[in-house]
Amino acid sequence: MDVALRQVAEGATGFMPPQEGLALYTAAAAIPAGGLICEVGTYCGKSTLYLAAAARAAGATVVTVDHHRGSEEKYHDTTLVDPRTGRLDTLPFLRRTLEQGQVEDVVTAIVGRSEQVGRWWTTPIALLFLDGGHTEEQAQADYEAWGRHVTSGGLLAIHDVFPDPADGGQAPHHVLLRALDEGFREQSRTGSLRVLRRVD
Ligand SMILES: C[S@@+](CC[C@H](N)C(=O)[O-])C[C@H]1O[C@@H](n2cnc3c(N)ncnc32)[C@H](O)[C@@H]1O
Repeated sequence: MDVALRQVAEGATGFMPPQEGLALYTAAAAIPAGGLICEVGTYCGKSTLYLAAAARAAGATVVTVDHHRGSEEKYHDTTLVDPRTGRLDTLPFLRRTLEQGQVEDVVTAIVGRSEQVGRWWTTPIALLFLDGGHTEEQAQADYEAWGRHVTSGGLLAIHDVFPDPADGGQAPHHVLLRALDEGFREQSRTGSLRVLRRVD
């Protein structure tokens, strides 16, 4: 991965440990040229930078979707609150991250609810990265809205998969089990990141 971009990614605010970010990069960099990488759950753009570096390497494009209001189950970082409204707003921080990484040419940010955007989305996805809301209802809704667009032979990456409930919430693990039941096969594991390939 590009060294400068990796440094910006490691310094960015967010929830992507370096080893998992690199694994995400490695998976995404292998998609066919011209392919689309789609991320659900942008936050401040930390994981987006790993995907953007991969898009550069592969000749691909990244679309990242988030309403930028945070997740109900995650604690709220008060430094990300808009003082005018008192509401969390990570969009300005995403803009800074993309600018710092100089990846605005390969990343398109969509501001909206995942399930709302998923309703009109039609483009095939070569790599889907699911890292949005982690409640059972939201994680399943994200998989339903986006998983069906992954191309045959395409990749599905899921973050925060914890098979043992003592390690973390179970929703991403349940999505993993469902995907394995619905035509995906596990390709790699790094920390809590799982990468699956569609084999049907
Ligand atoms: C765990 S954070 C993403 C972390 C990010 N990938 C990183 O590397 O730091 C989850 C994100 O999902 C977003 N989110 C939660 N529910 C959502 C929904 N229904 N639609 C769109 N975004 C949602 C939150 O706003 C939050 O930014």
